[in-house]
Amino acid sequence: MIRDSFEPRTAVREERRQANEALGRSFCKTLAELVTNSDSSAKRKHGLPQSSGLVELMFRVPKGNHLDTSGLKSQLAGKPPKRRIVIEVVTARSHGRTPREVAVIDEAQGMSAQDLKTALEDIGGDRKDLAGGMTGRNLFGHGLSDVLRAHQDAVVQTFDGNELTIARGEWCPRWSINRECQEKPQSKHFKDTLLTTETSGTAVRFVARCRIPDHPQIISKLANFFMLRLIAADPDVELTLRQYRTGHVYTDSIIYDSPVGPVIESFSRTLDPGGEMSPLKVDYYMLHGLFGGVFNRRADAAVVAVLRKWWAVLSAGRARSRTESKTDA
Ligand SMILES: Nc1ncnc2c1ncn2[C@@H]1O[C@H](COP(=O)(O)OP(=O)(O)OP(=O)(O)O)[C@@H](O)[C@H]1O
Ligand SMILES: [Mg+2]
Repeated sequence: MIRDSFEPRTAVREERRQANEALGRSFCKTLAELVTNSDSSAKRKHGLPQSSGLVELMFRVPKGNHLDTSGLKSQLAGKPPKRRIVIEVVTARSHGRTPREVAVIDEAQGMSAQDLKTALEDIGGDRKDLAGGMTGRNLFGHGLSDVLRAHQDAVVQTFDGNELTIARGEWCPRWSINRECQEKPQSKHFKDTLLTTETSGTAVRFVARCRIPDHPQIISKLANFFMLRLIAADPDVELTLRQYRTGHVYTDSIIYDSPVGPVIESFSRTLDPGGEMSPLKVDYYMLHGLFGGVFNRRADAAVVAVLRKWWAVLSAGRARSRTESKTDA
């Protein structure tokens, strides 16, 4: 009898297929990964909790009463500093930029050259060290890499107040990153970037391989996308979409308000897989079905997607205390 063990390799084309499968076909999911990163970093910069307080206020609306998130938001607005995130989408050549170019630009913490290397070198690794030990919605340590690998000509520009670092990702033939860093950069070093000397921040730019939704549908698609809803509903986030289309530059705010409707039920359940894994508390919120089957199916899909994500974390044995997590479906 012969016994042995061996470690299978992954072929480059399989690696590329997996990267493309993760995000390459979805414009909204691609942007959600980047906007989530930006928002989490901005919260860390200002020492804010992951939850804006909106979900907590929603849970206080008694059964049978109407939920009106735009009213609840006014109770929260204006206390913490505004967190600005700009999404740029270029579809026309006439603006002196590459058609299909997409960028997400924030004014958050930025990353040092070393932080950026840590963020990109171990795809799927634990990123709690980078998040100052905070657990938030950043769970898997591959959202940023997935975006860079799924699209084309991907670049991360980041300034932490001290170092300006630019990293370019390329398939050649395996995935690799070229990084350059300028310490104490001056204005001239920012000239070809989407950043400024005035604030720390990060810009992630790529040429999209997925379909870019048309204007104006793109606005509601982004605002309603389940992974972006809580950020788009946060009154202290200024999420702006700037589109460079043929003959026009459109600038719009991406804002989500839950449709007004009576609360049927709200309740919490704790999933406890046992062993070393921490229990997961999930809060459910149900509104009257004013919106027909389509809405309900979407809501179900959102719940399933969130639970799947959590479940994957639990199975990977990397979950710590997740008791503050909420779903907004
Ligand atoms: N815009 C940003 N500003 C500051 N830090 C960022 C930014 N984007 C990413 N990072 C850092 O890079 C790390 C890796 O990001 P990535 O999206 O790959 O993983 P994650 O957010 O930790 O988990 P997930 O896979 O769930 O998105 C983050 O944990 C964060 O520390
Ligand atoms: Mg992320």
